[in-house]
Amino acid sequence: MCGIMGYVGKKNAAPIIYEGLKKLEYRGYDSAGVALLQDGFYTAIKCSGRVEELKKRGALNLSGKIGIGHTRWATHGAPTPENAHPHFYGKFAIVHNGIIENYAELMHECLERGEKFSSSTDSEVIAHLLAFYDCGNFLETVKKTVRRLRGSYALAILCSDFPNEIAVCREKSPLVLGVSEDGVRIASDLPAIASESKTVYVLRDGEFALVGQKKVSFYDQEREIQKEGMTESFASQNFSRGKYEHYMWKEIEEIPTAIDQTLRNFKVNFCFSGLCEVLCQTEYIEIVACGTAYHSGIAAKYVFEKLARVKTNVSVASEFRYADPIISPHTLVIAVSQSGETADTLAAAELAKQRGAYVLAVTNVAHSSLTSIADRVLQTYAGTEIGVAATKSFNAQLSLLFSLALELAKAKGMSPNLTLDGFSLLSRQVILSLNKIQEYAEEISKANHVLFIGRGVDYCCALEGSLKLKEISYLPSEGYPAGELKHGTLALIDEKTPVIAILTRRELAEKTMNALCEVSARGGKIYLFTTLPEYAEREEIYRSFLLPSCEELFSPLLAVIPLQALAYFTALKRGNDPDKPRHLAKSVTVE
Ligand code: AGP
Repeated sequence: MCGIMGYVGKKNAAPIIYEGLKKLEYRGYDSAGVALLQDGFYTAIKCSGRVEELKKRGALNLSGKIGIGHTRWATHGAPTPENAHPHFYGKFAIVHNGIIENYAELMHECLERGEKFSSSTDSEVIAHLLAFYDCGNFLETVKKTVRRLRGSYALAILCSDFPNEIAVCREKSPLVLGVSEDGVRIASDLPAIASESKTVYVLRDGEFALVGQKKVSFYDQEREIQKEGMTESFASQNFSRGKYEHYMWKEIEEIPTAIDQTLRNFKVNFCFSGLCEVLCQTEYIEIVACGTAYHSGIAAKYVFEKLARVKTNVSVASEFRYADPIISPHTLVIAVSQSGETADTLAAAELAKQRGAYVLAVTNVAHSSLTSIADRVLQTYAGTEIGVAATKSFNAQLSLLFSLALELAKAKGMSPNLTLDGFSLLSRQVILSLNKIQEYAEEISKANHVLFIGRGVDYCCALEGSLKLKEISYLPSEGYPAGELKHGTLALIDEKTPVIAILTRRELAEKTMNALCEVSARGGKIYLFTTLPEYAEREEIYRSFLLPSCEELFSPLLAVIPLQALAYFTALKRGNDPDKPRHLAKSVTVE
């Protein structure tokens, strides 16, 4: 997703904005730009491609103590320098994250006034509107302008009449401000400002701020407001890769800590959440999420229904929000989102709430937009996840949802004699045995199509393993229920189609083996990931990876790890950067 960076303070703004944009690269982008304001004049550099290109073109030599920068993930208009932000019109310069849904009608109004556009983006129209509504008061001009906008926006705005202030505002797109000794930093996300900030403010939907060198004033549509800043030691938060070549591998190795921290905090947070009462009354659960978060919901469905006997449905958020969903009384909607900023999941949560559901947010980002929509929040503690491919956050989501299933079962008068204690240690054991996965990746990287299959909770891992492989190695792949193969997909099987099978449920083992025998009989090479050693030895199996024995219902916590590693090593074999997969963003804040 696009990344916004801004600075106003005592120091030269260019290097600060450049470094901030570098830290926002993980959000995904394909062009970048920076603009500084000095003595009433703008200097700017914009380019396609990587942020380093700005440096090569002299961005660090721009002078001025106030400026804005942007990494753009193209929605309207190709990733060209003309379409890169900042966009200018008259006295105004803007950077925008989000989508202006009514930009065409607004643009028509501007063209009718004889105004000329220099880009094919939706965002540029905002600069034109600012010039049109310019009333000599910076904040009022901004308020009048955004009242015309429909869609989503996080904006940082410069005006040459106010050379010491940046105006910012947001609607359904994140924006944080960091205050420090030398000035104020503005960004789409914490990693870009954390190490230099003493106090961080999270802007909420409908809020504005005027950011000066020493002072930040906050406003809503009517009046000035006071906001509570966060002063925990952000500098200690480690956003660097450290000894790792890629964030993705660092974050795979952080899975044991993510599981441990999420389980520990769940125990405390759940006690004070008041959710026990809600769970007692819950008669139906709807999980809404996207991508990897959706896959954690697939696993949770099995566990909620098995342990608590509560009917549970899982919906892709982008389908749920337009499906005119039926929300019956005593429905608990669980919105799962690592970033808490995914547009479809936010919209699904808002719709569920409007229709009377109790909405529980499961997110990894404490002050994300989803937390202001939900009735209650249960946070995962995976730590900041930079890699576009979700890894540790998935294991953290599973840890939390499985813990919630145990509480739900107890609230329903059952006594599930199961525990998640020990999974952090077991996950560490799995991570220590990943070496052989590199050999498998060598073979898989040469395939043209890869099938992942599993039954029950193993099916969730089949889906997640397939998504990981697709999104960072660009290898066509799909996850399938093992019992479905013979209903069509078996036709794809030949000696060039690796089949990755996940098998952890003893009572379904023979059924799954039936499917694998059908694959093997047609020349398919089977890679079996299992907790059942006797099946790893079967002659139909080409390669096997033994997982530690564990509670079957919770096995995705472990089974997914070698699949994450397989995707990582396969991406490397195919010459890809696992941290920056093409076309993808870490958080999809637009529809
Ligand atoms: C997963 O590796 C992808 N990055 C993507 O599918 C992601 O899970 C999805 O966009 C949902 O993101 P969220 O959890 O932040 O809502």
